[in-house]
Amino acid sequence: MRDAVGRVQSVLLVGGSSEIGLAILRRLPRTDSAVVCLAGPDRPDMERAAAALRSEGIARVEIVDFDACTSGDHAGAVDAAFVDEPDVVIVATGYLGDQQVAERDPEAATRIVDINFRGLVPMLVGVGQRLRAQGHGTLVVMSTVAGERPRLANYTYGAAKAGLDAFARGLAASLDGSGVHVLVVRPGFVRTRMTAHLKPAPLATTPDKVADAVAAAIERGARVIWVPGALRWLMLVLRHLPESVFRRLPG
Ligand SMILES: NC(=O)c1ccc[n+]([C@@H]2O[C@H](COP(=O)([O-])OP(=O)(O)OC[C@H]3O[C@@H](n4cnc5c(N)ncnc54)[C@H](OP(=O)(O)O)[C@@H]3O)[C@@H](O)[C@H]2O)c1
Repeated sequence: MRDAVGRVQSVLLVGGSSEIGLAILRRLPRTDSAVVCLAGPDRPDMERAAAALRSEGIARVEIVDFDACTSGDHAGAVDAAFVDEPDVVIVATGYLGDQQVAERDPEAATRIVDINFRGLVPMLVGVGQRLRAQGHGTLVVMSTVAGERPRLANYTYGAAKAGLDAFARGLAASLDGSGVHVLVVRPGFVRTRMTAHLKPAPLATTPDKVADAVAAAIERGARVIWVPGALRWLMLVLRHLPESVFRRLPG
């Protein structure tokens, strides 16, 4: 439970090594005794993140194994991740993959869908149940503008994220009145290791800017945000362009 001045006492980051997820986590006002749980598939990545968080003064950092590609024990992962009753759950799992490879290789395409959508559904069902039972908490789900209208360069990723975005908004509606707040975040291009090999798109931003926007959105109880905010209006236009015009756009 947040303390009297709204500082978090416990945070769960699914995608425990995500650059954006970690930036959001660091941006949250927290108590001196706050506890963090990192959940993800790569122990060494999360150990590095945990060591950095400890050196920044976070009292306790736990690590839980969670791989969205396996049909393993997702319920067990949720149980382990909820031991400290998180006030904020950030779901920042994501995988861009390679669209050209995915066009030839069904397994590569399936991996993109599994990590960005299919494998997150059982996790989100469990998180939703736990938050509802707690009767409080904020769930932040990392979506993307790429889910709003598919582009040739990354349409498998965009399709999977569109599924995640729809699921998260449905979950949000189902949690109305439970004391739980769900925030869906739709960034554009963010400079992280995920996009390091790509030319930055217009309106490219940084993990810290995303974190600032998320912290402000949690504060005001927003349900969906675009980062930067101008993307909301740009996507409003792009969504309605005829397919023939949309396909000719650069990028
Ligand atoms: N960067 C962008 O331009 C951008 C734009 C819009 C939305 N987003 C979204 O923002 C979120 C964070 O992205 P980021 O830029 O911070 O990327 P990132 O640093 O690469 O983080 C992605 C996270 O997903 C985890 N992951 C990968 N495969 C997984 C699997 N099989 N099972 C479970 N977790 C797995 C990674 O764990 P490992 O340690 O194993 O790699 C990592 O913790 C993602 O949801 C992404 O789609 C990013």
